[in-house]
Parts: sequence; structure tokens; C-alpha cells
Amino acid sequence: MSVPVLPAHLKTILITGAGGFLGDRIVTYLLTHYPDIKLVICDIKAPAERPGGRVTSVGADLTDPKEAEKLFSYGKIDGVFAMHGIMSGGSEANFDFGYKVNVDSHRYLLEATRQHGAKYPNDPKILYVLTSSLAVYGGPLALPESHVNPDATPITPESSYGTAKAIMEMFVFDYTRKGFIDGRSVRLPTVSVRAGAPSSAASSFISGLIREPLQGLESVCPITNDPKDPIIDNMRIWIGSPKAVVRNLVYTITVPAGKYPKHHRSINIPGITITTRDILNALEKYGGPEALKHVKYNLEPQTYAICRTWAGSYDNTLAFSLGYENPDEKTGFDGAVADFKEELFAAKKA
Ligand SMILES: NC(=O)c1ccc[n+]([C@@H]2O[C@H](COP(=O)([O-])OP(=O)(O)OC[C@H]3O[C@@H](n4cnc5c(N)ncnc54)[C@H](O)[C@@H]3O)[C@@H](O)[C@H]2O)c1
Repeated sequence: MSVPVLPAHLKTILITGAGGFLGDRIVTYLLTHYPDIKLVICDIKAPAERPGGRVTSVGADLTDPKEAEKLFSYGKIDGVFAMHGIMSGGSEANFDFGYKVNVDSHRYLLEATRQHGAKYPNDPKILYVLTSSLAVYGGPLALPESHVNPDATPITPESSYGTAKAIMEMFVFDYTRKGFIDGRSVRLPTVSVRAGAPSSAASSFISGLIREPLQGLESVCPITNDPKDPIIDNMRIWIGSPKAVVRNLVYTITVPAGKYPKHHRSINIPGITITTRDILNALEKYGGPEALKHVKYNLEPQTYAICRTWAGSYDNTLAFSLGYENPDEKTGFDGAVADFKEELFAAKKA
């Protein structure tokens, strides 16, 4: 994977959701590959300090607009990764809270970015990356058996999470069209294997089927009660490894504005198609037959209903034309499981 070359004017980047799974990795990637870059990192609880004096860590609840403004009080910000949020299961379970975070707080952050940018009218627009989701799709063209061509597939989300992401993509585009920011929205595949605690995402089981059994813990496969159900082999799932997604997310801030289509700023970034069988095979390969015994089959109708709104594959022509890479095509899901096992091993040694 190539390391993206950051635009020369990018000196300080703000990352929200920096205490989360992907935010934390973006912080590490930026600090590792760009020795001159400075970061302001934020989460509800201030994320862990990083050595080297290049990071300002802030605790802020961004559902308060004043807290969003506060993030721009530490000096000039040139780029933003807007990554905080409530995941799909959480937004579905708590409608009001989901919108408060996934729409209202993101609108406050956009507005604070706009006001900050207005103080520097002669500088390049603030680069703004929203982590969106393929949950913006739904309906008959976005089923596990579908291949989504973004130019031919309407945005018809079937979850509150997907609706909030679609709303914010529109805001990001309109703020860009008006010249307030230089925005881009990236729809990530389900990132797997996810380290740490299970998330509230409906897709959480995709990583859970590896993460918990590899540590000797039980994990539930929520799409069927029967391990012999053909759905295990047939239901297509679109995923990206953490390594590939983090690289491509950082790449997003480097894409020249002129390369985007004129009428939108939303890109489906690359992934690969797998099935639950691929997950179980990888579990057996890296954890042995014992690990498979930790998987229980227990249909959860709500989770299954959300799974039915995910397409099994997406056309990435636009992403590739913009320079995104897809290393997962070579290494497959096994590569992501191998990486996860190595991380587990390193964490145990530390
Ligand atoms: N992980 C995936 O598979 C995936 C897939 C598609 C899109 N995304 C998007 O990528 C982004 C990052 O995902 P992740 O997996 O790292 O999520 P995560 O849940 O691990 O992290 C999100 C972070 O946002 C913080 N947060 C929530 N509400 C906040 C608030 N009011 N103020 C400040 N911080 C708040 C949380 O504390 C958390 O640390 C999210 O926007 C998510 O929707 C992730």
C-alpha cells in the first residue's frame, strides 16, 4: 500500500471520534507517517495523550455547539476527519439520541469549521472528511445478492443511521458547493476485524465471529439458528480490513478537489465480498477447530433485517479513478484475521 502524500498546506488536522476504533488508528497512522503534522484529537472523554508533543487531546461532547467551536480554539486547523458517531444498532434503538449525535452534532462541527475557515479567506479551504456508510443505500437494488452501481442506485436508506449519514453527505456537499469547506464523504465498507469491545453496529457480529472465539469467548451468529443454513454460504457481505480502510481514509484528504465529479462528493471506498462461511473458515484456520465451538447460532430478527439492506458488492470505478487502492483483493479476509491475531499477540506480550 502506498503512503498518501499530504498537501503541503496541511499542517494541523482535527480528528473527532479519535478515541474510537478507526479514529485511534487514523491518529496513529498520521503520527507515524507524517513527522511534521500536528493533531487536535477529540472524543467525549479526552483520548489518551500521545508522546512527542504533536497532539492536543480534548474531551468534548459535540452535541453542544459550544464544544464544537472549542475545537478550533487551539490554533489554525487545515483539515478535519469527522468520525464521531453512534453506530447503526445504537441509532436504531435510540432514535432521538442517534439523530442528536449523527446529524445535530455533525452540523455543529461543519458550521464551526465554516466559521474557522472564514477567518482565513486567502488560505486553501479546510479539507473535511466525513466518514459515511454504505447504509445510505437500501431498497431492492441493495440486497446481499446485489452489486451496487452508485450512478444507478438511489440513496434510499432503511435505517436511522443510514438516513443520518445521507443527510450529512448532503450538507458536506452543499457546504463545499458554497465554498465554505473542501468536503468529501467516504462510505466505508464494514471494517473487519474490529479490535476491542463489540460495537453497537448491526454488523458487529462479522468481527465478533473472529474476535471473541480467538480469545476463547462465546460469539453469536445472529443470521440463523442453524449452522447448516445455506445463508452461511450464500449471504454476501462487503468488508474492508482496518489497514486498507485507514490508508484509504487518509488518502481521501489528499485527493485534489478538481478530480471529483461536479455534482457530488460521496465516494464508496473499496472493499471485498465475503460470506459467513469465509469468516468461519478463517476462524478455524487461525484458531483451530476448538475456536469454532465458541460460535453459537441464534437468529436475531432485527439484526437480520438490517443485514438484508446491505448489498454484497459495490462498484468502485470512481474510487479507483481517484487513486484509491484495494490491498484486500490480494490478501482476502484471511489477511485481516492474520493482522488481528498478530495484534492480539502483541497486546498480550505488552
Ligand atoms: N467501523 C466500521 O465498520 C464503519 C463502517 C462504516 C462507517 N463507519 C463510520 O466511521 C466512523 C468511525 O467508526 P468507528 O468504528 O471508529 O466508531 P466508534 O464507535 O469506535 O467510535 C466513534 C467515537 O465517537 C465518539 N462519540 C460519540 N458521540 C460523541 C459526541 N457526542 N461527542 C464526541 N464524540 C462522540 C464515541 O465516544 C466513539 O469513541 C463513524 O462515523 C462510523 O459511522 C464505521
